[in-house]
This record gives sequence, structure tokens and C-alpha cells, in this order.
Amino acid sequence: MRLSRYFLPVLKQNPAEAQIASHRLMLRAGMLRQEAAGIYAWLPLGFRVLRKIEQIVREEMDRAGAIEVLMPTLQLADLWRESGRYDDYGAEMLRITDRHERELLYGPTNEEMITEIFRAYIKSYKELPKNLYHIQWKFRDEQRPRFGVMRGREFLMKDAYSFDVDDERGQASYNRMFVAYLRSFQRMGLQAVPMRAETGPIGGDLSHEFIVLAQTGESAVFLDRRMLELPVPGEEVDYDGDLSGVVADWTRLYAATEDAARYEAETAEADRLTARGIEVGQTFYFGDKYSKPMKANVSGPDGVDRPAQMGSYGVGISRLAGALIEAHHDEAGIIWPDAVAPFGVGVVSLRPGDKAVDAACESAYAALTRAGKEPLLDDTDDRPGGKFATMDLIGLPWQLIIGPRGLATGVVELKRRATGERRTLKLDEALAAICG
Ligand SMILES: Nc1ncnc2c1ncn2[C@@H]1O[C@H](COP(=O)(O)OP(=O)(O)OP(=O)(O)O)[C@@H](O)[C@H]1O
Ligand SMILES: [Mg+2]
Repeated sequence: MRLSRYFLPVLKQNPAEAQIASHRLMLRAGMLRQEAAGIYAWLPLGFRVLRKIEQIVREEMDRAGAIEVLMPTLQLADLWRESGRYDDYGAEMLRITDRHERELLYGPTNEEMITEIFRAYIKSYKELPKNLYHIQWKFRDEQRPRFGVMRGREFLMKDAYSFDVDDERGQASYNRMFVAYLRSFQRMGLQAVPMRAETGPIGGDLSHEFIVLAQTGESAVFLDRRMLELPVPGEEVDYDGDLSGVVADWTRLYAATEDAARYEAETAEADRLTARGIEVGQTFYFGDKYSKPMKANVSGPDGVDRPAQMGSYGVGISRLAGALIEAHHDEAGIIWPDAVAPFGVGVVSLRPGDKAVDAACESAYAALTRAGKEPLLDDTDDRPGGKFATMDLIGLPWQLIIGPRGLATGVVELKRRATGERRTLKLDEALAAICG
């Protein structure tokens, strides 16, 4: 992408409405525009990040055996009457009436709809397990939308739903999602800790919240600091095998958003870490809470029908963009982890129009594009100081700075955003360092 043709409306001033770093930086870096309270348009730079986050989650869901679908945002109220949640959900639900006076709602979650789909097609244990997920906008009319995408009203969620014939297999499905979550967050460059959780309006009795530690987080967390040293399963993890050992390792130590008294009783003083955190995902196992009232039955090996055993698994895709910035920024701006960076490299031309500089920029741009590094070439006429500030603000992992003075002696400058380290190299060497 060439910056001269791109749409990157960066702000020089700190927006007054932003109270936390991620909100401030998303607005300043031209990622986001508020259209109404808790409702945002994703501008090009922000949208690229959103897509990267989404893709990592998608790949890990697929790897764990889940199958992607896409359900609509609007749902019939009658479907929610079947589970009894239409009345229970309260003011957070956005209720809509169409021209035929049919009651609809903008989905805050999809347990009912997926159960409806499941029961229409799946009748036998032989077709199980099944785990269906989608990545779709949700609406919750939050009382206090705030902190930008952290607590929006309209937000993007990945939600997966598992169906099994019995409790044991249902727990195994839960474990697969648990491991997929550990892997997804790690791949993005986040340390998310699974914490024992209450189940709230989703229901059930087994649940974990995956929480990224951050001072600006909305949840208080109590954890055993040894949680932070546990290894995350690698790519080779066998989702067909028994994952209960991994889950046991990750749930043995104390980690929860509450119960200071129990925490102190169960955790040695030296191991205690009280902090704040951002909930980026939650897993629930709730058995037949929806399948029973909604009659989503499957026949077992004995020929007897029984309600499918279900779990649901949410990831806050849009919230993650904010959480990532809370975890990775400094005074000058965002510091994207490579895996979610909107562009891999910023190529900064210090003198557009200069023949040698243009030629070097073009050849770097072509080579980086070929290598899949998604370069953003700053070919604008701005002053160098402004260009450097914008590059630091938008936080691309590498900056490749090309100017006439360096080229006269055959060199360019390469900066790593995360460390601030600068090196003066030949162009080929710089490209090798980026691609290596
Ligand atoms: N208002 C929101 N804005 C952005 N993301 C959200 C919002 N509500 C939930 N999420 C994300 O969706 C995920 C799954 O939804 P879940 O039903 O567990 O949310 P929740 O527990 O109600 O969230 P919270 O406790 O933060 O209100 C959450 O872990 C979170 O990352
Ligand atoms: Mg939750």
C-alpha cells in the first residue's frame, strides 16, 4: 500500500473522550470512528487488524475441529421464548419489530439459533461430536459503553457451540476449545490466563474466562503467579487425543476474578498476584440447558433419545484489538506484535522525487510485497519528523528508512519498533533481516 493513496486519518491531538491508552491510540492512529455510543466504524488500518485477529482465531478453531458457519444478526423473538431467555435477558437486548409486527432482536449471542439449526438436521450420536462457530457482529445495549471497542454495544465476536452425546464427550469438546483459546491468544502475542468463572446469563456450571492482565482492565483478578509460567501447547497438539492433562495443568492453580478469602486460603503469600484484567474470551459447558427445553435430542447407541450436551465459547474479536494495544504500546504509540500488525513494514521515503530514493523504495516495496510482508510505503511529501511520528504511532513492527544521504554511501536505516533498535545496513541486508 502507498500512503499517498491510502486513507489513514491520524490525529495529532489526544482525543478528549478517550480515557485509556488503547482507545486514545486507536482514534489517533486512524483505526476507528465512533458513529454512536458504543458503535464504531472500522477505518482501513483498524479493519486490517480486526481481520488478522479474526484469522488467527479462525485457524485455531478449524485446527481444533470446529466448523465455520454464518448466522444472521437478526433473530426471531419466538426462538428465544423457547429457551425462556427472551424475558430474562432484559434491557441489554435490542428488540426490533418489522413491518408485519413480527418481533425480532439483534443477537447478543446465538445459543438458541444454533440449537435450532442442530435439531433440524442432527438426530444420531453417530453424527457427533459437532462444533459449529461463526464470527459475527453482536449487539448488547450496555448500560455504560466505554473505553472504545473494549465495551462497545455493537461488537464482533467469535462464538462456537459444541454438541456431544454425553457428558464425558462434552467435557472433551470443552477441553479442545480451552486449548484452542490458549493457542489463539498466544499466537496474537497476548498472555491470557484462564480463570474460573461464574456463568451468568449463559448458564451452566463449568466456565473459564480468559483474561489478559492490564492495569486498565475492568475485572479484578486473583491469581497464582506461577500461572504466568505455564507452557502453551504447540502446533503439534493432538486434538483427537486426551487433553484433560493440559486443562488440569492450567486449572490447578488459583486464578479467578473473585473470592479474596478463598484465594488467600489456597495460595501461598509468595505466589499471590492480584491485578486487573481484560476478559477476551469465555468458555461455558452447560450440558442440556438449551437442548432440553428446545428438544435438540440425539439417539444414543442404545437407541434412546437424549438432549445433546452443549458448550459455548466466545472470543471478543473487536475487544482484542483494544486489549492488544493495552498490552503493547509506549509513549509514542502502538507496538503491534508481528502476527496482528496491519502492515508488516513501513518503508519511509525521506525524499520522494529523488531518482535514487524512488528506485530504492520501489525495489524494497516490490521485494517486501513478494515476500508477503505487506509493506506500507510512505511516499508522501510530509517532513521526515512527521513521517517518523506517524510510523511510531501506527506501530508497524519494522521501519525501513530510505534517504538520499544514506543511499550516497549505499545504506538505509532499519528500525525495530518494539526495541527501538536502529541499524544502518545495505538495502539487501535490511530486506534479509526483515524477511529472515
Ligand atoms: N460489550 C462488549 N464489547 C466488546 N466485547 C465484548 C462485549 N461483551 C462481551 N464481549 C466479548 O465477548 C466475549 C464473549 O462474551 P460473554 O458473553 O462471555 O461476555 P460477558 O461475560 O458478558 O462480557 P463482560 O463481562 O465483559 O460484559 C467476552 O469474553 C468479551 O471478550
Ligand atoms: Mg464473559
